[in-house]
Amino acid sequence: MSSLDNLFSLAGKTAVVIGGTGELCGAMAEAIASAGAEVVLVGRNEDKARARLAKIEGAGGRGYFVPADVTSRTGIEALLATVVEQSRQCDILVNGAGVNSPTPFLDVEEAEFESIFAVNVKAVFIACQVFGRHFLENGVEASVINVGSMSGVTPLSRVFGYSMSKAAVHNLSKNLAREWATQGIRVNTIVPGFFPAEQNRKVLTKERVTQIMGHTPMRRFGEPQELAGATLLLASSAGSFMTGTEILVDGGFAAMTI
Ligand SMILES: NC(=O)c1ccc[n+]([C@@H]2O[C@H](COP(=O)([O-])OP(=O)(O)OC[C@H]3O[C@@H](n4cnc5c(N)ncnc54)[C@H](O)[C@@H]3O)[C@@H](O)[C@H]2O)c1
Repeated sequence: MSSLDNLFSLAGKTAVVIGGTGELCGAMAEAIASAGAEVVLVGRNEDKARARLAKIEGAGGRGYFVPADVTSRTGIEALLATVVEQSRQCDILVNGAGVNSPTPFLDVEEAEFESIFAVNVKAVFIACQVFGRHFLENGVEASVINVGSMSGVTPLSRVFGYSMSKAAVHNLSKNLAREWATQGIRVNTIVPGFFPAEQNRKVLTKERVTQIMGHTPMRRFGEPQELAGATLLLASSAGSFMTGTEILVDGGFAAMTI
């Protein structure tokens, strides 16, 4: 193995990828598996999980699927129990389940607000508590990667609840980075720009796409596999002195004003 491979190697590690049945976190799971870790895909759609696992295994990787509603503490505790039973311990946690809605502000009903916060914030909070305790009690040198959003950095019009929820994720990541910095647990945030996926399909109207392209210096959407580099940097010892940081993968979106 070259020293470069060594730097990014995840051999012998187990990564739990919450939202790994989706487009972006599925690609992040593929990247993690390609570096040698076993990946646990967590979500609700078994067909999507099977398809992603087939791709991972086809490329020589290993993994399995655990279905879970990530908004439920008992669901996340059961997930950890399954991972401990099957893989002994978890070393890498990716929190990437997410939902979105483009409702105009005055029409956002509390049920919609709560459902966005349940998946985008509460689920991250629960997983960080449940897995954080596992890391601390077992002395695991862990990497937690939370998936934020450009809208959590600078608010994005129309997606009010989503923007607020992602700002909370960014805040929690930094707070936990500080909390666990001396205990071997790193917590960072990957901040994707715009990538077409299931959760934002209804948000990406023609007019909206024109606005996004006008504000993206690279003039294109991201491809999910373009998150691989940032994922491997944060997951591996290549990022051993990185905690509490945000890596933007956005085609220059945040660098541009007009
Ligand atoms: N696509 C983008 O442009 C973009 C940009 C910035 C941030 N993000 C974030 O990236 C992450 C991945 O999103 P994506 O774009 O790949 O969308 P996606 O819809 O493909 O994936 C979202 C995943 O979350 C899962 N999920 C939702 N609610 C769940 C629940 N209660 N229990 C278990 N799983 C649940 C879905 O089943 C799906 O697998 C999200 O956190 C999203 O907010 C996406």
